[in-house]
Amino acid sequence: MKTQRRVLLSLLWIQICCLRVQMKVEQSPGVLTLQEGRNSSLICNYSISMTSVQWFQQNPDGRLISLFYIASGMQQKGRLKSTINSKERYSQLYIRDSQPGDSATYFCAVE
Ligand SMILES: *[C@@H]1O[C@H](CO)[C@@H](O)[C@H](O)[C@H]1NC(C)=O
Ligand SMILES: *[C@@H]1O[C@H](CO)[C@@H](O)[C@H](O)[C@H]1NC(C)=O
Repeated sequence: MKTQRRVLLSLLWIQICCLRVQMKVEQSPGVLTLQEGRNSSLICNYSISMTSVQWFQQNPDGRLISLFYIASGMQQKGRLKSTINSKERYSQLYIRDSQPGDSATYFCAVE
């Protein structure tokens, strides 16, 4: 029987630079525990129009990795995929076939 390991994803939002505009970004889910092998997606909603969204991964050791810098459409890197919908103001990060190594805090930043 396959051991069920768990993957813990959490999502935070950070603001890059220093926009004066009041921004509201909703993140869902805040913290997510899922079984290894499952697919998952994180969403960042924001309330201003913008040009791009950046996704970061921060590993438990604190290392920060830039995953995507997305201004339109879709980008894919291995098991990770990101999409942006500028009109409806949200960006999604998809994690396919999640692995324990995906356990991290994910940031999205709106510029
Ligand atoms: C995850 O998504 C891929 C394609 O996007 C699909 O082939 C696979 O069956 C999905 N896995 C689960 C566990 O839903
Ligand atoms: C974010 O926007 C999407 C698409 O408009 C919507 O389906 C989702 O419910 C929104 N999530 C939150 C937390 O507002």
